[in-house]
Parts: sequence; structure tokens; C-alpha cells
Amino acid sequence: MDVEIQNSGKIEGEIEVPGDKSITHRALIFGAICKGDVTVYNPLKSQDCKATVDCLRKLGVEIIQKEEKFTVKGRGGEFEEPDDVLDCGNSGTTMRILSGLLASQKFYSILTGDDSLRKRPMRRIIEPLRLMGAKIFGRSNDNFPPITIIGNELRSVIYKLPVASAQVKSCLILASLFAEGTSEIEEPGISRDHTERMVKYLSGKIEKRGRKIFVSGKQSLEGKEIFVPGDFSSASFFITLAALIKNSYIKIKNLGLNPTRTGFLEVIKRMGVKFRISNLRQMNNEPVGELEVWGSEKMKGTKIDKNEIPLLIDEIPLISLISCFCDGETEITGAKELRFKESDRLKAINSELTKMGADITEMEDGLIIKGIKKLKGAELNSWNDHRIAMMLTIAGCVADGKTVVRNVDCVDVSFPEFFNLLGKLEVKFRIIK
Ligand code: S3P
Repeated sequence: MDVEIQNSGKIEGEIEVPGDKSITHRALIFGAICKGDVTVYNPLKSQDCKATVDCLRKLGVEIIQKEEKFTVKGRGGEFEEPDDVLDCGNSGTTMRILSGLLASQKFYSILTGDDSLRKRPMRRIIEPLRLMGAKIFGRSNDNFPPITIIGNELRSVIYKLPVASAQVKSCLILASLFAEGTSEIEEPGISRDHTERMVKYLSGKIEKRGRKIFVSGKQSLEGKEIFVPGDFSSASFFITLAALIKNSYIKIKNLGLNPTRTGFLEVIKRMGVKFRISNLRQMNNEPVGELEVWGSEKMKGTKIDKNEIPLLIDEIPLISLISCFCDGETEITGAKELRFKESDRLKAINSELTKMGADITEMEDGLIIKGIKKLKGAELNSWNDHRIAMMLTIAGCVADGKTVVRNVDCVDVSFPEFFNLLGKLEVKFRIIK
């Protein structure tokens, strides 16, 4: 499926984006290890989350799906041996977090995924899980999926993550819940903390001191209700659209505003975008609120370094797009992790935005983008990466002339309603099957 987009006039409206992907994965997986039921309201129903549901069902977890909620029948600590490989599809979060669960289960399991996931690094979970006593192996000298796990007794670990990764951190927190003793997990930088918040909300013993997280072993979690707020990363496409078109206004309701996710807002504030947060409240230990954004006429480039990257890791494609419309230069460094996402995102951003006339220098760990204040329509490719597909569609809305983005089916990975919402805002586009 391709999409053809025309330059769009101002947008105006009030929207809600679907449930947060990271929180939905965690509600399902941590729900499965609870004693009692976990009811998940407003879960994201996308391909990635479906992969998690399917894998959990193969492990014997009962998940009842009714309209806008999932009920996960918690199994406490014991699961069933799957009779087939567990297919995580495109989802790194599914594969990495589930590995932390399977490491302690007394059976044999294999996790695999699609072409993209089978190229993503897995040594980062295999090494620390082995230190905990896990029998876990990966293809190509433990670097890539498929991953094979033969469940074993686990012991606690003191471990400093070499990269700031919420997926790796969550894998180790989950394994630690089943291990003997208290584990100490240290992050080199602060990454999204949905797992820590959720374990605490489900009455688990977890403590944070600075960059260190202490998790007590052999504990059980308590089933509760979880409301999934709107996904900040999905909202960011519409924040960008409103910010880049003069006289636009958008309000996004029930939006997750966890500060370990909203680094993008800090960056666009520095660039000069006007926004306002209101009605900030807590829901199951997660901050939720309303966000209003106004179209900006004058924006300036900024610098983003390694400390900020984990707080906006999925928004760098959008920051790159906005940078094209700024005065001056934007420099993004310490972002090598982007090369290991669903595509090599530094390469994808550079290649596709350059076709639209952008002035980008690609470095090993980042990008330098010179603001040129306009882009021209072009024929582009999504690299089969949902976030690249959506960023390029937004780029098409603000470029001069016509843009075609090829292979946009991948938006279903995280945001199946993306084109419907664009339509609601009266953006001019046409889907070509
Ligand atoms: C995620 C963490 C991030 C992010 C991904 C989802 C999560 O990855 O890019 O889309 O749910 O934990 P890393 O923390 O591995 O960089």
C-alpha cells in the first residue's frame, strides 16, 4: 500500500490517539505474572501488541478481548511450554521483555520474528540473563534472533547496562522478579520507566536510587485495573503537523505525559514551538493530561546529545523533519541506537528527507540538519519502518507539491488508525492499494 499526499492547509481539531504501545505490552506481560486478573482498558490494538497477545496465549495465558478492554488471567509464576516457536513479528519489545520471563520457566522455547527483527541485536539481553544463570542462545554467536531458551533457576545480578535501553532494563527487571535475592540494575542514562511504575502499581517491591534500580526476587504481583493513556509517540506525528503549519491548532486528550517519554516537548520548546499542558493527573502511576499545540512561524535549530536521546528515541525522525524548517542548524549526537531500530533510522531519515531537498550530514552517531525552511514533494520509501512511514507522510503534508510514500502498510505496527486520524483533520491524501 502506498500513499499520495498533497501540501495541506492549516489543521484544526481535537483528537485522541490510541493507547500507548510500551504500556500495553507491559500490561499484558506483567498482567500474565500477576496473581488474579488484570483488566487493561484502552489497550493498543496494533500488530506489535497482537504479537505479544499471541505469544502469551501460546504460553497458556488466557486473554479475553472485549471491545475496548483485555482481561489477562494472571498465572502467577508458571507458564506452559509452547508447542511451536513464539513469533514476535516486528516487535523488539515483545522479544526482549518475554525473554526475561522465559529465562526462569522450566521448559524449552524459541523466539523469532520478521526479517527486520531477526537483524536486531540480542546479545544485550543474552549476556546479562546468562549472568543470572539463564540458558539462552542466539543466532550468529548470540547476536541475533532466533533466540533459544531452556529455562533454569535464576540468581540475582548486579548489572550496569552498556546502553540506555528500556527494553533491556525491563527484561532484567522481569527476570529479577523470579530470581533468588535482590538484583541491582544500573542504567547509563535514563530511559522510559513504565516497567518500574507498573511493577510498583501492581504492589511489587522495586526501588529506584539515582540510576540504580533494586528489584526483590521471588515476589508476586497483584492483579489490578490498568488504564492505558494515549501514546505520546503516536501523538508526536500530529504535534509536528500542527507545529509546522501556520495558524494550526490541535488538542490531544488523555495523553500519556510520562517525563521519560516527553523529551520531544523539551526539544520543540527550545526550537520555539508553542504548546500547553493541562489537566495533568495520575492514572495507575502514569502521568496523563491534555496537550494543545499551535502552529509556529519562527523556529530555530538546537543541539541534542546522548543524555536526552533515550527520552525522545522514537521521535528523532520527527525532530529531523522539524529541523528542516528551522533557522540555523540542528545537531543530534549520541544517537547510534537509531541504527538498530526497525530500520537503520539515521540512514533512512537522511536518504528520504534528502530526496525532498533537505540538507543533512549523516554521522556515525547522529545527524546535522541545516534548516532550509521548505521541502519539495518527492517519491519516497518507508523502509518498511512504521515511524519512518508516518514521518514521511507528515513531511508530505508540509512539502510543496505532491509526495508519494511507498509501502506504508507498516503503520499497523504501532498506529493502525493513523490515516483515519489524518482524514479527520482534513489532510489531503489518497491511499493507493
Ligand atoms: C521501548 C523502548 C525503546 C523504544 C521502543 C519501545 C519499550 O527501545 O525505541 O519503541 O517499550 O521499552 P530501547 O529502550 O531498546 O531503545
